[in-house]
Parts: sequence; C-alpha cells; structure tokens
Amino acid sequence: MIAPVKHIAAMSPYALAKLDAPGGKRLISLSQNESLRPPSPCVAEAVSNTLASAHLYPDPNWGDVRTALSGLHGIPADRILCGNGSMELIACLTQVFADDQNAVLAPAHAYPFFRTATLMARARYDTAPEKGGYVCVDALLDAVRADTRIVFVANPGNPTGTRIPRADLLCLRAGLRGDILLVIDEAYGEFADGFREPMFDLVERGDTVILRTLSKAYGLAGLRVGWGLFPPRIANEVRKVMNPNNVSIVGQAAAAAVLRDQPYMLETCEMTCQLRDGFIQRLRASGFDVADSFTNFALIRFGDAMSAQRADAALRAEGVVVRAQAGVGLPECLRVTVAAAEHLNHAADSLVRWAEGEKP
Ligand SMILES: Cc1ncc(COP(=O)(O)O)c(C=O)c1O
Repeated sequence: MIAPVKHIAAMSPYALAKLDAPGGKRLISLSQNESLRPPSPCVAEAVSNTLASAHLYPDPNWGDVRTALSGLHGIPADRILCGNGSMELIACLTQVFADDQNAVLAPAHAYPFFRTATLMARARYDTAPEKGGYVCVDALLDAVRADTRIVFVANPGNPTGTRIPRADLLCLRAGLRGDILLVIDEAYGEFADGFREPMFDLVERGDTVILRTLSKAYGLAGLRVGWGLFPPRIANEVRKVMNPNNVSIVGQAAAAAVLRDQPYMLETCEMTCQLRDGFIQRLRASGFDVADSFTNFALIRFGDAMSAQRADAALRAEGVVVRAQAGVGLPECLRVTVAAAEHLNHAADSLVRWAEGEKP
C-alpha cells in the first residue's frame, strides 16, 4: 500500500463549511468571510490586458503589486513578499522556522490554519487561553516554552472578531525572546485601519512579520493574493521554500488594480461595517449574544453547543450556510460573514424565527 508520511496521515483535512444542499437547492454562503461585493470594476480591464501574456510565467518579484503596496502603506517595496493567498505565507513561515523539535504558539481560538500549517511542519501546536474572546498577552507569554519558535496572532482575530491594541502587541513583542518569530496576521486589517494603529514599524526589529491579504476588503479571494512585510533575513529564508511562480499574472494585475482604487475598498469597508453593526444590533435586540466585531463577520454565542447546532441546522434549512466553530474550541458559537443586505437580513430573520421556535 502507498502510505503517506506519519504526520500527514495523522492530520484531518482542512474543514470548510459544507456548501452542498440536498435536492440541488441553492445555498447562501455566509461561511468564508468573503467580501460582500465583487472587486473594483477596474479589475476587469487590468485582467483582460494580461491575457495576451498568459503563455509567460508571472513576475517572480510581483513588481507592480509591491510598488502599489509600498506607495500605499509607506513601506519599502523590497521587504514585501506576496503569496498565493496569505495562507501560502503562513505555511512557508512554519516550514522555515518550526519542525519536530519545537513548537508554535497561538491564542486558543485562533485562525485554524495556524494549526494546520504547524502540523504540516511537524511541530507541536500550543495554545494560550483567551479572555472572553480577547487575546490575552499575559496568557500568551505564560504559555511560551523553551522550544517555542513562532507566535501567531491574528489582529483582528478570526473567529473572535476582536482587536488587539497596539500597546498590547508591543508588550507581547517585548516579552518574547529574540529567537521567537512573532507573526501578526492582519487579514482583516483594512476593516480596523480606522483605528490608526499600524504595526508595520515592528518589522524593523528583525523578529516580526506582518501579513495581509487582498482576499477580504479588496474582494480578491478567488484570485489568491496575500502579502507580508518581512525583515530581510526572514524573507530570504521564506523565498527558499516559496513557489517562485506563486501569484498568477491575472492575480498580480488584479491586485495592482484594486490597490490603486482605494475609494472603492474604503467604500466596501464602510458598507460592510454598517451592515455588520445593523445585523449585530438586530440580533442583540432579539436576545442573542453577539460580540463586537472589527471584521467582516459576526460571532454569535449560543447558550451551549447543542443550541448552536440547532441554530446552524435551522439556518441551513432556510438556505443559509454559516460557520460552526467547534474546531477552534467554540462549539457554542456560529460565525456569520457580512454579505449583501438581502442575504444578511434573511439570515437574521431565520435566526429570530428559530429563537422564537425555541421558546418553551
Ligand atoms: C486570519 C486569517 N488569515 C489568513 C486568511 C487567509 O487568507 P488568504 O485568502 O489570503 O489565504 C484568512 C482567511 O479567512 C484569515 O481569516
């Protein structure tokens, strides 16, 4: 028999919400934290212009994307690496800096791909408790072991939706040993940029990486473009394991185009935050426990895991798929991605109807 290596055999496939429906019924997916609308209209022209070069490999240095990011964020272009989604960068970082002799640490309810990437690298995955959905710097520092090599935090967090203030991140970095890489994953950063607490300056220390993606606020999830700001020594190592042709010419052209249309992205964030806050208020008014969110999703906390499962099933019966959170230690929670008003209202109506039906 052809057998996989032991550490892969021991892993489970990465869990996504099941989008297939019985009887071919169309389901509304509010499960993947995608943008509520397509990307800037300027993408269409930018992408169509690349097709005549589709026989050529993409730019391995992501020239136009780096230039656009550098101008936008005031960061050096040569410190930026782009990935086939930020997932690729997360996987490369764990592959380079962790192995079966050491450990990766993250908050208890962190983005699940941190764990997957750690297991792919054969390392141990440690977690630190969070406090009411908030990352706790003291708990993270307490959980550091002699063999800890990487600490991952997402800011804002997925699925918690909460934000870590800059002062807390500075305390975290100051409390970590110099041989521990801190990775701050800002996949939802654009939704929280209004708080004006950029963290890019931390990268200058040489021991911290900041990751971002164009999958969320920029609406390019399907084209797979993530990026990060890296200290040069870390970037050199990561490039050794990266696919040198990782972002297609279509992805690069689309990325450069959306980055140049800031008003559109900012409008997406504004629409998202308005719809999100309306959704949260409506559910709270109907008695639901919904956390504040700094992202494009809302986390609903039910009384227990069984209630969350019943609500999940009721939503699915009404054609709405949301994301269960048992996999990250929150079996009593469901995460709902902010979508177009019509879909989000349908989800809220379905939840309120379900809650009415639950009453004795
Ligand atoms: C915290 C976080 N990081 C990274 C990603 C992956 O983003 P990308 O599409 O760039 O791979 C996600 C996607 O949901 C996420 O929630």
